[in-house]
Amino acid sequence: MLDRTHRLRRAGTTAAVAIAAVTLASCGDSTGPNNKQNALRPAGKYARQILNLTEPFFWIAVVIGLAVVSATFYVALRFREKPGEERAPKQVHGNTALEISWTVIPAVILAVMAVPTVATIFSLAKKPTGHVVNVTVTARQWWWQFHYDDPGNGVETANELHIPVGVPVSLTLQGPPACSPTPCYANGVIHSFWVPALNGKKDVVPGRKQFLKLEADKPGTYLGQCAEYCGLSHANMRMRVIAESQADYDAWVKSQQVATRSEAALERGVDAQQWGCATCHSFKPGTAGAVAPNLSHLADRTAFAGDIYLVNFDNLWRWVYDAPSRKPMGNLEQHMPNFSAAGMTQAEAQKIACFLLTNTATNPSPPPECAGK
Ligand code: CUA
Repeated sequence: MLDRTHRLRRAGTTAAVAIAAVTLASCGDSTGPNNKQNALRPAGKYARQILNLTEPFFWIAVVIGLAVVSATFYVALRFREKPGEERAPKQVHGNTALEISWTVIPAVILAVMAVPTVATIFSLAKKPTGHVVNVTVTARQWWWQFHYDDPGNGVETANELHIPVGVPVSLTLQGPPACSPTPCYANGVIHSFWVPALNGKKDVVPGRKQFLKLEADKPGTYLGQCAEYCGLSHANMRMRVIAESQADYDAWVKSQQVATRSEAALERGVDAQQWGCATCHSFKPGTAGAVAPNLSHLADRTAFAGDIYLVNFDNLWRWVYDAPSRKPMGNLEQHMPNFSAAGMTQAEAQKIACFLLTNTATNPSPPPECAGK
């Protein structure tokens, strides 16, 4: 008996420690409520619509859950077999009044909850009109390609979506274009676009065009993440939305439309064509690369490689030198190769990184390591 009590107590302590560990683990700076990826802290009207629906439903569920558990405990204790009692419980079959009520009450509750749910679904599915920013999002393995569609715009970027505050952004989500020979299709798997502070998630399905809209209340950076398992670097398929004032946004668009250097100069400068960067990347503003991000304004971005590395000298040259060791890419058909295995030296990788940092920036401020490179 004592043994059993001991064992129970130990199991209880272990469970308490485990629960505390899991709970506290979510309290860190990067993973806590301020992780910029919190659907419970909406930063725009679409995300708020979802929370406004979720919150009352959560409390309805809490009330119903508590009522059911309390009733279960009450019945179990009230009608339990008492010591010395040797009677069978009353034998019943069916109770029409009870059965009707426990069918009708939940049906009514669900019918009432369906009204705002359906209204929200329709409202979120409605395409915005008026002043709207239109962007086509192509989900790649494993990064996000953003192409601004509005006439005369022609901005092409990767992983980093700039939007004006208070303006609806209409996204067309798609998989990579079909190509031949067919192995290209190996790149087309299902992803899911999710920036929790700005709206719910939407699957990106190869061969289909999906619609999702975003809007941010105030300037800030809102982080996102691919939310559908899509292979080895699913966790490394992140993105950031940078919301800024209309004036700042307009200035950003203008900066991205202008070439910092000519396409030819960039292609020549980056590797003297030796490593074939331009086979996959584009160095011309507004133009998509064959399979890889447009690099004409790489140095203007905060992060790269699926938004997992900050754009700086160290990260960039190591990436150029041996990308697969920095982001698992397995046997993907097309990915940034390990150039070190093909004979690239560290000095060459550093030279390429410095060239990109200096020549693809709207306002270049090359790092000290690049002096003389
Ligand atoms: Cu893309 Cu997970």
